[in-house]
Amino acid sequence: MNISLEPQVALITGASSGIGAGVARAMADAGAAVVINYHTEAAPAEALAHQINVAGGQAIAVGADVSSEEDVERLFAQTLDTFGALDILVANSGLQKDAATVDMSLADWNRVIAVNLTGQFLCARAALRIFQRQGVRQGVSKAAGKIIHVSSVHQRIPWAGHANYAASKGGVHLLMQSLAQEVSHQRIRINGIAPGAIRTAINRQATQGAAEKELLKLIPYGRIGDVEDVANAAVFLASDASDYIVGSTLFIDGGMSLYPEFHGNG
Ligand code: BGC
Repeated sequence: MNISLEPQVALITGASSGIGAGVARAMADAGAAVVINYHTEAAPAEALAHQINVAGGQAIAVGADVSSEEDVERLFAQTLDTFGALDILVANSGLQKDAATVDMSLADWNRVIAVNLTGQFLCARAALRIFQRQGVRQGVSKAAGKIIHVSSVHQRIPWAGHANYAASKGGVHLLMQSLAQEVSHQRIRINGIAPGAIRTAINRQATQGAAEKELLKLIPYGRIGDVEDVANAAVFLASDASDYIVGSTLFIDGGMSLYPEFHGNG
């Protein structure tokens, strides 16, 4: 199976670091022109775009807060102005603001829901409007557009001390499935990716030293995931190789969602 995303245009939100940056790099390697969205970290996003351009690819970095309707509209307009089309959206931006619920501020609840869930709605809506106008681009892809919602194993696994985050990811799951049900007849493909523990800045503390040993007990496959584990799957889900996959979530978690603590227990 030879996967090429050329000459498609992919927009990846939250792509200045971590999973988003890995997905942008992998999609550019597969031949897509990529829009690297960032919120505050302009320098690494610009550096990644520069690297891709120097290597012969096409990339731009665009700053936008995905929880702002105005910013999202500008982000998609700039994508069309630069590349003339949009084929793939990877709605990836996400953050954690952890606290026991009794100590959680309303501001931290609202911010996590705004970025992780409302941000995915705003970006999906903007992408759908473009896909519906564009239709299937003959010779480019079998679908009129593809959206990949990056969720988490915590769309399924409850997470004490992270109620805002788990609620946002549970929301992303049903947002993804509802959109898939709504627009699949227009040949728009919507799917989700649910990463487990992937080594990035969001979980640096949990993936080092003694905490890493504890974390590994939750991962039957015996290792922390790498950004590439998720990026490769995103390229596949964005390509025609997955043309019949609609409304599915791909768990990329080394088995974390298999409730490994039940091995020999229960
Ligand atoms: C979270 C990480 C966590 C992982 C597994 C992810 O969604 O962002 O912080 O390590 O889930 O619990």
